[in-house]
Amino acid sequence: MKPLPHPSCTSRTSRLTIPLFVPALVMILSLASLAKPCTDQDRSSLLQFVAALSDNGGLTGSWENDTDCCKWEGITCSSNQTVTDISLASRGLQGHISPSLGNLTGLVQLNLSNNLLSGGLPMELLSSSSIIVLDVSFNHLKGNLQDMKYSTLRPLQILNISSNLLTGQFPSNTLEMMKSLIALNASNNSFTGQIPAKFCLSVPSLAFLHLSYNQFSRRIPTGLGNCSVLISLNAGNNNLTGAIPDELFNLTLMEHLSFPNNQLEGSINGISKLTNLVTLDLGGNNLSGTIPVSIGELKRLEELRLDDNSMSGELPSTLSNCTNLMIIDLKNNSFSGELSNVNFTKFPNLKTLDLLRNNFNGTIPESIYTCSNLTALRLSSNKLHGQLSERISNLKSLAFLSLVESSISNITGALQILGRFRNLTTLFIGHNFFNEAMPEDARIDGFENLQVLALNHCSLSGKIPCWLSKLTNLEVLLLYGNQLTGSVPDWINSLKFLFHINLSNNSLTGEIPTALVDMPMLKADKVAPKAFELPVYKSQQRQFRMPVSFSTTLNLGMNNFSGVIPEEVGQLKALISLYLSHNILTGPIPQSICNLTNLEALDLSSNHLTGEIPTELNNLHFLSNFNISNNDLEGPIPNTGQISTFPSSSFKGNPNLCGPMLARHCGSEEAIFSAKQTDDVAVKVIAAVAFGAFFCVGVLYDQMVLSKLFG
Ligand SMILES: *[C@@H]1O[C@H](CO)[C@@H](O)[C@H](O)[C@H]1NC(C)=O
Ligand SMILES: *[C@@H]1O[C@H](CO)[C@@H](O)[C@H](O)[C@H]1NC(C)=O
Ligand SMILES: *[C@@H]1O[C@H](CO)[C@@H](O)[C@H](O)[C@H]1NC(C)=O
Ligand SMILES: *[C@@H]1O[C@H](CO)[C@@H](O)[C@H](O)[C@H]1NC(C)=O
Ligand SMILES: *[C@@H]1O[C@H](CO)[C@@H](O)[C@H](O)[C@H]1NC(C)=O
Ligand SMILES: *[C@@H]1O[C@H](CO)[C@@H](O)[C@H](O)[C@H]1NC(C)=O
Ligand SMILES: *[C@@H]1O[C@H](CO)[C@@H](O)[C@H](O)[C@H]1NC(C)=O
Ligand SMILES: *[C@@H]1O[C@H](CO)[C@@H](O)[C@H](O)[C@H]1NC(C)=O
Ligand SMILES: *[C@@H]1O[C@H](CO)[C@@H](O)[C@H](O)[C@H]1NC(C)=O
Ligand SMILES: *[C@@H]1O[C@H](CO)[C@@H](O)[C@H](O)[C@H]1NC(C)=O
Ligand SMILES: *[C@@H]1O[C@H](CO)[C@@H](O)[C@H](O)[C@H]1NC(C)=O
Repeated sequence: MKPLPHPSCTSRTSRLTIPLFVPALVMILSLASLAKPCTDQDRSSLLQFVAALSDNGGLTGSWENDTDCCKWEGITCSSNQTVTDISLASRGLQGHISPSLGNLTGLVQLNLSNNLLSGGLPMELLSSSSIIVLDVSFNHLKGNLQDMKYSTLRPLQILNISSNLLTGQFPSNTLEMMKSLIALNASNNSFTGQIPAKFCLSVPSLAFLHLSYNQFSRRIPTGLGNCSVLISLNAGNNNLTGAIPDELFNLTLMEHLSFPNNQLEGSINGISKLTNLVTLDLGGNNLSGTIPVSIGELKRLEELRLDDNSMSGELPSTLSNCTNLMIIDLKNNSFSGELSNVNFTKFPNLKTLDLLRNNFNGTIPESIYTCSNLTALRLSSNKLHGQLSERISNLKSLAFLSLVESSISNITGALQILGRFRNLTTLFIGHNFFNEAMPEDARIDGFENLQVLALNHCSLSGKIPCWLSKLTNLEVLLLYGNQLTGSVPDWINSLKFLFHINLSNNSLTGEIPTALVDMPMLKADKVAPKAFELPVYKSQQRQFRMPVSFSTTLNLGMNNFSGVIPEEVGQLKALISLYLSHNILTGPIPQSICNLTNLEALDLSSNHLTGEIPTELNNLHFLSNFNISNNDLEGPIPNTGQISTFPSSSFKGNPNLCGPMLARHCGSEEAIFSAKQTDDVAVKVIAAVAFGAFFCVGVLYDQMVLSKLFG
């Protein structure tokens, strides 16, 4: 066995070692394997390994006892016919990993990644005196890692145990034996306790340490400050608390520092000592303080994520010195001051700028419009004001634009400019343009690729404009909270991808158009999901990562629609939510509504509906939000099934309805209960009332938040 380059060299070289040496090794070794068969011991160890599998992914085809195991699939041997390399990633292997592999005295690399292996990780592999690369990531291994019994140094350099079901504390003795470790990936398991404090006293060569998606808790140990060659440290999505220790800021080779979604607090003032930083992700913590002026020292910085913290103050003008920035995510903090402090012209590579929900004021700085590579720009919910500059049309790559609540005026001008963005798929510009008129047809063009248009809460007057009919890729249309009049145009059914329509809280009139009933996407399944450039927030906690996260909805509530609910509504099989409340609809609840078996919300309240409640509504098994209050319905409420579980508030304001949950009980000819049944019903009703109250609050809250924060 040739000695491998020892990684005590500077981290730059060790960074190269990892990707390079493995293939090189494999090449040297495979060239060398000739003639003489493998040793009996190696063959027997391998056969024991395959025998312990419950599904060997077809290996037995080539792994035959009487053949040379150096020629077996996935096996590579050295020139002296010892097995050095086992590469069985993604083979569908199931069962336990046999400790017999630890008996392969020449084994250098073992890759069992991406299988369905279960049971524990045999100690024999971690304590092997030959294995240098061990990758068992993406399996179902469980249990604790054992502490090593022997105290001999181990040659292991790369250990990837990520994406398994491993638990317990990280065994620090075991680590101590791995003096050559360069890369440890233990992410996406369930390890607990503190991150081992003596990590780098025992492992001086460690360059990559990935611990994210575990349950590590307590403070980040100051001992990590001894990891002097650490390049990449990722411990996001754990339960870490306290401040980032100053010792970490001494690790000047660090390029990727990532602790998102923990409970870290304190400031980031020391960060500028990490002059090699390329990515800094500290989003989703409780960090406070400002972005230090010294941030400008981080000349290599490409990603700056400090979102969802409690940081404040102005952006320092020195941020402009970080000229390699591609992503700036500062959303959900309390940053303030004018954005023009920063010269965005210095960021030619900027792709994402997300400043959602801060206290920035002033106008959108003109220098932003020089960032021609921007694909996602979100400035929503700050204290910005002013018109949209013509110069925004330089942002030709823009796919996602969110300028909610930015005091923008002149909707005609804004839409004329934005329509030219050929790549724009998502546009949130609600809560602007108050009391302006919806622009007329001839003046708006473009938007060929728009999938989501949110023009809600603008108090716009006018009609639903015809230019919308040209937005043939539209999937989500939010026009609620305007003062639109007239009817819903018939061309609406030409928008063949539209599946979420919210026209509520307008002054629309006429009958519910049968064209709506022809909407292809309300009838059938959604298109293949595409991700948003940025997750969209429905509330602070609920995010939508793609347009399909919006549910299939038709919301015509709070308008002046009249006439009957068309029987054809029963064809909209894909509907999850149907809201027709607060209109002047007459006639009965059509039987056909009972065919909408995917419905989770049905609100027909505050209309003039008459007749009885169709008992088949009980077919709507997913219904959790149901309201037919304030109509002129009559007769009994079904006393069994789904409908009977809703609280009185779902039915109130219908003087001629009767039922156990209403003041007006039905006469004996309408419903006869035995004493026992009544008890049952009473219990159910109490449960239902409790649930309903909870649910209604939830829904109301949802809708309030929706109107306030969307973007
Ligand atoms: C493999 O063959 C040897 C003899 O060549 C025999 O002793 C041994 O039991 C066999 N092993 C298995 C697993 O079949
Ligand atoms: C490893 O080999 C030794 C000697 O051949 C044997 O006694 C032992 O059982 C083997 N261990 C495993 C786990 O197969
Ligand atoms: C193991 O194999 C997988 C699939 O080929 C590969 O992606 C991974 O990089 C390998 N692991 C190591 C440590 O080389
Ligand atoms: C496991 O981690 C090592 C070191 O980071 C890496 O080289 C390897 O590609 C990873 N394996 C997979 C399947 O990603
Ligand atoms: C570590 O593992 C996680 C998940 O298994 C993977 O996403 C990540 O890329 C890995 N890191 C490295 C450096 O291989
Ligand atoms: C975590 O592991 C599970 C199971 O292997 C996998 O499905 C999931 O994608 C992993 N998550 C990450 C963030 O790598
Ligand atoms: C950082 O390094 C400097 C110089 O090597 C040393 O004086 C200082 O004590 C270190 N700081 C911490 C917090 O370890
Ligand atoms: C912003 O940077 C650009 C490019 O370096 C420079 O030409 C311009 O003068 C700067 N603007 C301000 C206001 O400093
Ligand atoms: C628009 O998107 C396409 C496909 O993603 C891409 O190839 C093209 O470069 C983009 N255009 C601009 C101006 O960014
Ligand atoms: C609105 O913008 C358009 C196009 O930029 C412009 O022609 C028009 O004068 C503007 N209207 C108002 C009232 O500012
Ligand atoms: C209806 O929209 C108006 C703006 O047109 C808004 O002020 C009002 O709060 C909205 N009402 C509800 C209940 O959302």
